[in-house]
Amino acid sequence: MSVNNKLTRAQFDEVMVPNYAPSAVIPVRGEGSRVWDQDGNEFIDFAGGIAVNCLGHCHPALVGALKEQGEKLWHLSNVMTNEPALALATKLVDATFAEKVYFANSGAEANEAALKLARRYALDKFGAGKEQIIAFDKAFHGRTFFTVTVGGQAAYSDGFGPKPQGVTHLPFNDIAALEAEVSDKTCAIMLEPLQGEGGIIDASPEFLAAVRALADKHNALVIFDEVQTGVGRLGALYAYMLTDVVPDILTTAKALGGGFPIAAMLTTTEIAEHLKIGTHGSTYGGNPLACAIGNAVLDVVNTPEVFDGVKRREQLLRDGLNKINDKYQVFAEIRGKGLLMGAVLNEQYQGRAKDFLVAGISQGLMSLIAGANVIRFTPSLVIPEADIAEGLVRFERAVAQVAAD
Ligand SMILES: Cc1ncc(COP(=O)(O)O)c(C=O)c1O
Repeated sequence: MSVNNKLTRAQFDEVMVPNYAPSAVIPVRGEGSRVWDQDGNEFIDFAGGIAVNCLGHCHPALVGALKEQGEKLWHLSNVMTNEPALALATKLVDATFAEKVYFANSGAEANEAALKLARRYALDKFGAGKEQIIAFDKAFHGRTFFTVTVGGQAAYSDGFGPKPQGVTHLPFNDIAALEAEVSDKTCAIMLEPLQGEGGIIDASPEFLAAVRALADKHNALVIFDEVQTGVGRLGALYAYMLTDVVPDILTTAKALGGGFPIAAMLTTTEIAEHLKIGTHGSTYGGNPLACAIGNAVLDVVNTPEVFDGVKRREQLLRDGLNKINDKYQVFAEIRGKGLLMGAVLNEQYQGRAKDFLVAGISQGLMSLIAGANVIRFTPSLVIPEADIAEGLVRFERAVAQVAAD
């Protein structure tokens, strides 16, 4: 096989580990919320690289930061700090409840750090035995062995040998179940304020208040996984800002780099102290190149204009999806918040979310699924309103195609 000939989807099956099933289309270029494939076909992007491309593709501010830092300094390792990391950590501290930042490269890594910190904090402060991590059914926290075990889908963590112990799963939004389980042996309660991969399921305000109160009562930490909800996706910098609850630890990734890998764990000084020198680390975490891009993302995103724009776009998308449903009767519900939206299939279309995604591709629209019954939309936070309108036209054609099957 030669790499000089046109690269094809068939080669994926020849040379890549078969843990993904990518679509037949191979995109080669993107600009804003439009993407082009090898043959010049154009797509509107309602997927945003799974809630990552918060400023679309090749946003000038991010390209500028990448080029500028790319010609200065890429990597040092953590034996030295660097200016972009210091600037980004300061921005995150200024903008949130947090007083300390740990940088990583992916959501799973940030969550791994959060879980290890919570365990170490409990051990240092309260002694052995306070190890229980309470998490929730359908939660998704990443694919390292600890995070996938804390995630709420056993299918993702089974089959790899003995799992990390001390993890309890409860139904999401069930205050009584939480009250019955939490105790002085609980070290942390971890949740997504709005479950993304699990099917676009919002935490109720009452549930969040109960999580906070019960954690406080039992000296447990509250960890918010904002890997998908963070960096403006719900119309505020972080989802917790739209609630009455402040977590002890927050993880952020995906949109923080707008497409460049970077993640962070945010916490307070009192908790952070327990990650002493040598207790945890990462070769690449906090490298100057990633942090320079993170700085550019925050400078653009963390503004009232962008957050107001998210709310306006949310309404356009919601109205458009409801209109399509009026015509074709395929959805039971349109749910979600900001630009993390889900169209939930009704009884007649159970299990067919992927069919809508595939039909979308054939009509020039990129979307996502969240389980077998939810079509998920996570476009750029600044997607032009005309692209939302055109994307909805294409999605309507995809719905018509599936409905006619
Ligand atoms: C809520 C949440 N946490 C963690 C992750 C894992 O992030 P990563 O794939 O960057 O490790 C994801 C990814 O989808 C996520 O949605």
